[in-house]
Amino acid sequence: MGVYETLFKFADATGQYMGDSGTHPWAQGYPLTTQIPGGPPLPGSIDIEHLDLKYPKATGEPPLLAAIVDYYNTFYDAGITADNVAVFAGGRPAIFATLAFVLDDTMIALESTEYTPYYDMLNVLKRQVHLIPSRADNRFRPSTEHYDIEPLGDAQRVMLVKSNPCNPTGVALSGEALRELVDTFSGPDRGALIDEAYEFYCDPEPESALRYIKDIDQTNIFVIGAATKGLQVPGMRVGWAIAANEHIEIFRNYSSFGMGGVSRASQLYVTELLRLERVANARRAIGKFYSEQRSRYGEGLTALDFELFTGTGGFYHWGRVPGGLSGDELNERLFKYGAGILPGRLCDMSRAPDKTSDLDNFVRFSFGPLSADSYQQDMQILSECLG
Ligand SMILES: Cc1ncc(COP(=O)(O)O)c(C=O)c1O
Repeated sequence: MGVYETLFKFADATGQYMGDSGTHPWAQGYPLTTQIPGGPPLPGSIDIEHLDLKYPKATGEPPLLAAIVDYYNTFYDAGITADNVAVFAGGRPAIFATLAFVLDDTMIALESTEYTPYYDMLNVLKRQVHLIPSRADNRFRPSTEHYDIEPLGDAQRVMLVKSNPCNPTGVALSGEALRELVDTFSGPDRGALIDEAYEFYCDPEPESALRYIKDIDQTNIFVIGAATKGLQVPGMRVGWAIAANEHIEIFRNYSSFGMGGVSRASQLYVTELLRLERVANARRAIGKFYSEQRSRYGEGLTALDFELFTGTGGFYHWGRVPGGLSGDELNERLFKYGAGILPGRLCDMSRAPDKTSDLDNFVRFSFGPLSADSYQQDMQILSECLG
């Protein structure tokens, strides 16, 4: 159990749900769902007619598929068609489905500090896992050689699973480094799941692996996107996988026996959000607003003696708590103020119950849901809890 462990502890200690008005949801991974400065408004309604009440198509409604294709072809020259896209009820269902259908002789490689749910998914699916060191001693930035991985034991293939930008660290690969990664995992018996949930939250600009994939039909690369963060609508539950046509066909079958498609109403709403002019505005505004927040909170946390390792993406700060305090100990203090962070140990992909973690003293501080005017109060609470 990942972030929910923290949310349940918070609810037990405070009688409130983190995110309720008056709480300080620094553990939470959702963005503001209101118009951000310079950004487009979020529609208050959509029109629905009787045809929209029918079952949705297995891998997505044609207008949404067309909008996703246009989006990637316009901004990244991706060269994809609607046959390369499958729509899911959010990013996690797309990730879980991809990992569920990976061939059994595949070894999954992932960084040792990663997005909490990967740990649970890989455990439930009993996948063979190889960890790429991502720790304080390499500043959570594995070098290129660490991605050069051969299958071990009975495995014949390797599939990389990577959030980019990384949740929790914010470390983001772009340009030549991302091209190299794509090339490495485009080869025979190689594949990758590149999770771009935070694509818009990148300084200086959004980036996607699709810019570097020459012909996705010749690869086993899955690029996962979602309306959750960049389009600011976690509650719509819309995500997607971009992959070779032969893989999308597997998702089509899966959708018909295991999912039944994704809410048509949500798809209509997200189609509107992806209008090219609107989405261009959203990309710029999200990048600007959250880069400012990253730098402001970075200065504040550093002044409180957090040792930060944060990269240039995402909406989290990742760092070591001052005074030898663990993330859990800090939370006990914060809960009294209706605040809480995500203890770093929940991002440790090698964690085990009753075992200490290298990340016990680390925390992920989320500024995703925070409005620009909460800063002073946030710093005040932290300072009192550390004092
Ligand atoms: C790294 C990463 N991938 C994917 C997701 C997808 O989330 P959802 O299933 O809410 O669309 C999230 C959200 O927290 C995330 O942080």
